[in-house]
Amino acid sequence: MSTWLPSLITATAEEGFDLAIKLSRVAVKKTQPDDAVRARLRPAYAEDFDALISISHVVATNFQTVAAANGYWRT
Ligand code: HEM
Repeated sequence: MSTWLPSLITATAEEGFDLAIKLSRVAVKKTQPDDAVRARLRPAYAEDFDALISISHVVATNFQTVAAANGYWRT
């Protein structure tokens, strides 16, 4: 079965951070499935520092989950 989220396990912390971004973006896509609406809103948030700080926060929260799932890549 194909899935957009086969696993939370990643090889490196950097890949884990990319996964945290993906989790965040999928949440947006699932809450606003209309591509045209998201495309319309993109230029506004891209230049809104409050929105960008909020995005960083969401990604940081997801990164905590991914990092915990990977044992903080301690090897
Ligand atoms: C582009 C992340 C919220 C719409 C991007 C890109 C990133 C990103 C990293 C650049 C992709 C690239 O150039 O390869 C996020 C994260 C979000 C978020 C982490 C929330 C936590 C939103 C919201 C909207 C939106 C709220 C609109 C409702 C778009 C669109 C693009 C884009 C239309 C350009 C097309 C694309 O690359 O898919 N976003 N974004 N994003 N974002 Fe967001």
